[in-house]
Amino acid sequence: MKSSDWFRDAVVYQLYLRSFYDSNGDGIGDLRGVIDKLEAITSLGVNTLWLSPFCASPNEDNGYDVSDYRSVAPELGTLADLEELLAKAHKKNLRVLMDFVVNHTSSQHPWFQDAKSSVNSRYRQWYYWSDGRPSDTHPHGGPPNNWDSYFGGSAWTQSEETGQWYLHHFLPSQPDLNWENPEVRQEMFSIARWWLEKGIDGFRLDAVHHLGKPLGLPDAPAHLKLKQFKNTRLTHAHLREFRKAVLEPWGAVAIGETGGTTPSTALLYTARQQELDAIFHFDQFFLPHPRAQDFLKNHERWYRKFSGQHAWDTAFFSNHDQGRHLSLWGDDRYLRRRSAQFFAAVLLTSWGTPFIYQGEELGLGNAGFKSPADFQDQASLRRYHEALEQGQDAELALAHLLMYGRDNARTPYSWSSAPQAGFTKGTAWLKPAYDYETINWERQQGDSDSVWEFYRKVIRLRQDNAALRHGKWVRWSHHPHIYAVQRGKGRNLVALVGNWSREFVTWNLPRSRGTQGNWVVLLSNYPASSSSVKAGKITLRPWEVYILTTV
Ligand code: GLC
Repeated sequence: MKSSDWFRDAVVYQLYLRSFYDSNGDGIGDLRGVIDKLEAITSLGVNTLWLSPFCASPNEDNGYDVSDYRSVAPELGTLADLEELLAKAHKKNLRVLMDFVVNHTSSQHPWFQDAKSSVNSRYRQWYYWSDGRPSDTHPHGGPPNNWDSYFGGSAWTQSEETGQWYLHHFLPSQPDLNWENPEVRQEMFSIARWWLEKGIDGFRLDAVHHLGKPLGLPDAPAHLKLKQFKNTRLTHAHLREFRKAVLEPWGAVAIGETGGTTPSTALLYTARQQELDAIFHFDQFFLPHPRAQDFLKNHERWYRKFSGQHAWDTAFFSNHDQGRHLSLWGDDRYLRRRSAQFFAAVLLTSWGTPFIYQGEELGLGNAGFKSPADFQDQASLRRYHEALEQGQDAELALAHLLMYGRDNARTPYSWSSAPQAGFTKGTAWLKPAYDYETINWERQQGDSDSVWEFYRKVIRLRQDNAALRHGKWVRWSHHPHIYAVQRGKGRNLVALVGNWSREFVTWNLPRSRGTQGNWVVLLSNYPASSSSVKAGKITLRPWEVYILTTV
């Protein structure tokens, strides 16, 4: 057994540091805040934390623009705070993953500051530089190729100092590192080891799908919607080297953000843990208005390809880069509690390691922001303004921002109904969610019907049932509203049957699998279950969900 195999039994809590808990009143969440709230995290039952980036950064992208990799950002605390957090977390059997921003640095990083100063800089080759390319629109030279940045505009910016252009797949203040340069790789490996020595258990590798650029930096094919190359062969070579040089000797885990993968291309990363222990793909966010069957089909597609190949996936519905799933897929108005609980059950019975994003365990939906002025996130605002410049209907562009803007998921944690959601004694860096007075952590404690309490129960169920973590995954339902799957088999069978709709639905449990009726309900989300599970028939109320086993 590889020593990183523990990850397959993990339930991860993604913690967005700036927004979790502010211990010193400056309006920004910090490491001491996490230490203060450690009990609240562990009482939920999760056993792994993913901390958003905590190294020094000018925060153009909230820490995803690092200016010193061997440091802790002063607004988040000190290295001693981090070490204390690691020690206390480990004492509680909580492992900690670091968000390692490997693809780019901040433009304020001393490497880039030096690199941009002259073509002869010692750090020039740590980044990508190129002369401009003349074209009809740029007769004096424009971007060297047609690549797009994720955050609007070209992936190239011209630097004043030398007139050459540098590459950035994200903001212009996030120049891409040149991983083809062995010096860069050695330095990044050495940084990773430095953090492992401090006690970090593994990494979430940020934007790893862009690590290896195609040789010669050619134009991307015109038919691609986003003109970029992702998941290249070079990326795999770099990651295999990282695995050998860092992960294997330390028994450390790495989960990569691999946008743009299909089940087959993702397999190259995770089969037999050659490179990564698991990947994040984003297919679920590309399903237009998903319903039970879209979701089941999608999950099945990935499961079929991965299982049997000793490959591993993650399961997640929300993170810091999307609108909240309750608002995108569920009912964040009338049946909020039930639909939040429904998704909790689906998530925690999924195949792959589940990731819970802070706040979803309260049933948080989108922030309720009304205008662009409520947003801080540069990326979302740039895309919004670009849409307007390109002539998109203003109302539509605004609706898109309000629904998908990343700050929807980054609001300060709704701890209580106190001012600023109980997150800070000062003024929070981002407005709290509109509904914190009613939907908050404090109100849900001790309420046996709360979303928080349901998450706790379903996490426990997963921890107690190997079938839910390792059992075979079989899709049961083809009914448009019913999300039903079987995990495990025989005496270790656990089934999930849920109603992804606002309607009442009666459904027959499959009879053909030796499941002749003696169902026991392990968990359901409506209090005092009045629906019936009798003679193999189940009647489900809106968003009702059952986790069942047989006797
Ligand atoms: C990843 C992060 C995102 C960040 C981007 C650039 O996609 O999840 O928050 O903006 O990389 O680092």
